[in-house]
Amino acid sequence: MAPVADDSPVPADRAERAAAFAELRDRALECRRCRLAEGRTQVVFGSGDPDADLMFVGEGPGAEEDRQGVPFVGRSGQLLDRLMAEEMDLTRDRAYIANVVKCRPPDNRDPKPDEIEACRPWLEAQVDLIGPKVIVTLGNFSSRLLLDTREGITRLRGSVYPYRDRPDGTPVQLVPTFHPAAVLRGGGEPMAGMRADLVRAKQTLGTAASAGTGASVDAGGSA
Ligand code: URA
Repeated sequence: MAPVADDSPVPADRAERAAAFAELRDRALECRRCRLAEGRTQVVFGSGDPDADLMFVGEGPGAEEDRQGVPFVGRSGQLLDRLMAEEMDLTRDRAYIANVVKCRPPDNRDPKPDEIEACRPWLEAQVDLIGPKVIVTLGNFSSRLLLDTREGITRLRGSVYPYRDRPDGTPVQLVPTFHPAAVLRGGGEPMAGMRADLVRAKQTLGTAASAGTGASVDAGGSA
């Protein structure tokens, strides 16, 4: 399978990075690297600020996302928006939101390992070009993929993990939490856990900002 991005270094210049990101998106919208291309209405590449310090990574588009071409616009997304506002004092346009797979699995089934592998380079390229300081993984699929583990989210959450360094040497930190759909199903306990994880993510962003890394997200505020 042809690579989605070449090996050229991530441009240091913001405008060049934005152009590279737009080009990546254009190519992803035509992707046919796996069988999910056959059933999709459209590719749900991601949304938000491609220069954000904070990135959320979910599992894959559902029916509403497939219709609108935007991640997390259904019930899970409404919960994510609410908790982001309440615990992080943030709106979604200040972060970038993406998924492990960019096309809707039929009947909302779980993405299969070969589909995740086929889609992975798009996510890797998004992370490279956005250069977030903190990634919040939502649920098992993104947490396991990015942390390269088989451990489940219930055990993974509650901690901050080093993910990798950005090209400028700044560390990228990963904060795993429950998927909002699991919180909608599970009620009080996962809800409290997800709230605590978002506060943790905000504090981690604040630490990155105060280390002089120039975070664009305002890490002060209510939490
Ligand atoms: N669930 C996800 O994991 N991603 C979406 O975009 C919507 C629901």
